[in-house]
Amino acid sequence: MSFAYQSLLDRVHAEVAARPVRGKVADYIPALARIDASRFGMALALVDGRSFVAGDATEPFSIQSMSKLFTLVMAQRLYGDELWQRVGREPSGTAFNSLVQLEHEDGFPRNPFINAGALAVTNALVSRYAQPERAILDFMAGLSGRKKIFIDEEVARSEEQHGDRNRAIAYFLKAHNRFENDVAEVTRTYFRQCAIPLTCQELAQAALFLANNGCALDGTRILSPAQTRQTLAVMLTCGLYDGVGDFVFRVGLPAKSGVGGGIIAILPGVGSLCVWSPPLDARGNSAKAIEALELIAGELAVVPG
Ligand code: DON
Repeated sequence: MSFAYQSLLDRVHAEVAARPVRGKVADYIPALARIDASRFGMALALVDGRSFVAGDATEPFSIQSMSKLFTLVMAQRLYGDELWQRVGREPSGTAFNSLVQLEHEDGFPRNPFINAGALAVTNALVSRYAQPERAILDFMAGLSGRKKIFIDEEVARSEEQHGDRNRAIAYFLKAHNRFENDVAEVTRTYFRQCAIPLTCQELAQAALFLANNGCALDGTRILSPAQTRQTLAVMLTCGLYDGVGDFVFRVGLPAKSGVGGGIIAILPGVGSLCVWSPPLDARGNSAKAIEALELIAGELAVVPG
């Protein structure tokens, strides 16, 4: 008998939606602060081709730091193992936008998901692509199946206006000879990759190859099996910044979050799950998305196959 994924999503959605709102919607820019805090969507894409949704799964939201997962994959494809000379793969235990370790560690970012590492990855893409923004949009469109992929110009502009900390990080990398491009160009590309809106359904689809040993369902290889394992390892140890230990304790899955309120989690060999709820916990990760993933992971673990 096949597992009743739809009823699982529906049950978890109803249960978590009914809980009180904890946390606060990201308010560092007006375009994000305006989002309705009660929005709540979930999507599950399976490697056998089936997919399931619940709630606001087809409403686009700002992917923010979830974009760092896809730029990491692009950089792995371009640079192979050499990429790891630009960025590490250790958890940071610090906030996503922290500068503190860079000072002590020769400007070498701990991992590709904190802002310092993500900027190093975008810098690497800018070095190889004539039109990096186009390349990122095309890659995301191909994986997500979204035909009209675009950048939310209001979010991108606000990110740029509030981007001094990210520019400071980029200059710090540059001061350590770890950043060969113009800071303004790379930070602009980074702000714009964060400002792409996608739905839970599209994000689950886009990350599905990570559950499928690196291959999209049409057989296209995105990453080698080894690179896929490495990406999942970095998600497991670094995907939720200084909240990752608690997340892995509760959910046990490799994942990546964004301040738009989305979290994408991978069930290796099974599928990918994206949950979206805008209010964030103190570490900038969606509180209800974590609760929903915890319930789903708990149920899946007790059901064989
Ligand atoms: O770099 C920033 O500040 C944002 N554009 C993205 C941050 C983010 O999503 C962190 N994740 N939870």
